[in-house]
Amino acid sequence: MECLPPAASGRLFLGESVQLTDEEKRILDGKCGEPQRLALHVLAKLGEACGAERMVEIASAHLVASSYQIAGEAGIEIYTQLVVQGARVKVRTTSDPGSIDFARWREFKTPADYAARQVKISELLDTLGVIPTWTCTPYTTFNVPRFGEHLGWSESSAVVFANSVIGARTNRLAAYVDLCAALTGRVPCFGLHLDEGRKGEVLFELDPDLSANFADHFFPVLGYLVGQVVKDKIPVVAGVRRATSDQLKAFGAASAASGSVALYHMVGITPEARTVEEAFGGRVPSERVSVGRREIEAVMEQMGGATGPVDVVGVGCPHASIDQMRRYAALLEGKKVHAGVELWICANTVVEAMARTMGYVATIERAGAKLMVGTCHNDCPLGAWGFRRLATDSGKFAYYTPTTVGTECAFASTEACIQAAITGKVERR
Ligand code: F3S
Repeated sequence: MECLPPAASGRLFLGESVQLTDEEKRILDGKCGEPQRLALHVLAKLGEACGAERMVEIASAHLVASSYQIAGEAGIEIYTQLVVQGARVKVRTTSDPGSIDFARWREFKTPADYAARQVKISELLDTLGVIPTWTCTPYTTFNVPRFGEHLGWSESSAVVFANSVIGARTNRLAAYVDLCAALTGRVPCFGLHLDEGRKGEVLFELDPDLSANFADHFFPVLGYLVGQVVKDKIPVVAGVRRATSDQLKAFGAASAASGSVALYHMVGITPEARTVEEAFGGRVPSERVSVGRREIEAVMEQMGGATGPVDVVGVGCPHASIDQMRRYAALLEGKKVHAGVELWICANTVVEAMARTMGYVATIERAGAKLMVGTCHNDCPLGAWGFRRLATDSGKFAYYTPTTVGTECAFASTEACIQAAITGKVERR
């Protein structure tokens, strides 16, 4: 943290384009402490590189480097120095999933020294004032943005939900840029913070006969397809007649994984897209893409078309809602997970507590499934398990599983995944 030279004048390292307020100049002059000075310096350099004319105050931050897998030893060093320097986050700030289930890490064969490093990060973040939500769905718990609010968030699935479904405004921040936002309560104003940066670019038109297929697993598949096509552009999807929050969550997470989508518009569904014209804001689509049954089936195959034996089933990515917990419990009522198969359900502590109160956890655990709380398959070290094939209903898991879990992936609907956990094999999609 001390390796950069101090800014003497408040403009020494800034591009000419970034105009600072008096308060920001004070921060950059070091009047508010070294952590804030350095954080604002980083943000201003980012703004300079991206053509920002000013900074914008944010309502909240969300940190992805709360996970030891992402933060590593460097993260522990950074957080330790911040604590020593007396730093505190300036705005409401929440933590993404960690690399362990804090209550059950032994059940997941996590090495003790690895768990200890995650606990260390947790203690440091507590001191910095971060709310320990340990979830990729902070918008369901203690960090609920409002329409039009500016945010400084990382975590691709949360960013795309906040921008698209809520209509809040955040760029997809990198690890530690999110921390700089948390420390200063500001981000450079460019990209998705501006009206101009939120206009649709690519139009997806769904075949009318797809409307009969709007089952849950249609949404992650469509999101995966959209992300692959647009990469980091802004898609506008026309032809979806209805969608639940969980379906939009699944769509966005998949599009943010297979591409880098940070904002999508779904016509008639999301708040900045009451019409196609509104979604494009006067712009002409740079590309039009028709999506029919053939395209959907091709992408499903690509996401993991394998059938046959599985040894681990993962659902709850992004972290499960209480509605999803109810569904898992209903599907598992009176059933038993197959011997030799692990069924892991990822959720946050708030949903876990509610699901326990409502009796869903008892049903789930009686069936032999495990709750994986505050973390997920992609964040935990799973080498000790020697898994070969994972079945999932998540487009994001499907995308990352081959590299993070190191197994083959079978993508299927929620019902088919739970059934695979019960029978030991994926028999249908
Ligand atoms: Fe969340 Fe992990 Fe999925 S962070 S979005 S459950 S890969």
